[in-house]
Amino acid sequence: MRSRDAKIELLRSVALFGRCTRKELARLAALSDEVEVPAGKVMTREGEPGREFFVILEGRAKVSRRGRRIATLERGAFFGEMALLDQGPRSATVEAESPMTLLVLSDRNFFALVEELPSVTRGILRGLAVRLRDHEKTHTH
Ligand code: CMP
Repeated sequence: MRSRDAKIELLRSVALFGRCTRKELARLAALSDEVEVPAGKVMTREGEPGREFFVILEGRAKVSRRGRRIATLERGAFFGEMALLDQGPRSATVEAESPMTLLVLSDRNFFALVEELPSVTRGILRGLAVRLRDHEKTHTH
């Protein structure tokens, strides 16, 4: 396992956490687990419930809906926020395309993060807006 300081330095290097103070990074480190997964591991399955939020520290994931790729996510990207925010089913399947290192937060710790780390919340909202815009571009004729 990494030392607490090494984990904080790793978190600092992720764009989503780039504006966090050291104290906030320490809080984030306490709220999250670092998890390694092999290629092929399915983290979210479209239509199923889910109670975790993920940030990619290393590796690449495929996002698909009805069996078709809609996005590729790499280091610094996050996923799994939608089912937590609206308590609905997972909107897409997210599967590891390489061995990955993920930061994982339970739904409870995700909401603690949203309430306590405003710069991260803003980054998550921005990411949602970008996804919504992309979605509209693809689906408006
Ligand atoms: P959630 O619905 O909880 O689980 C699947 C996740 O895939 C979803 O949250 C988003 O984080 C992610 N996702 C869904 N649609 C897209 C998209 N168009 N681009 C990138 N990521 C997406």
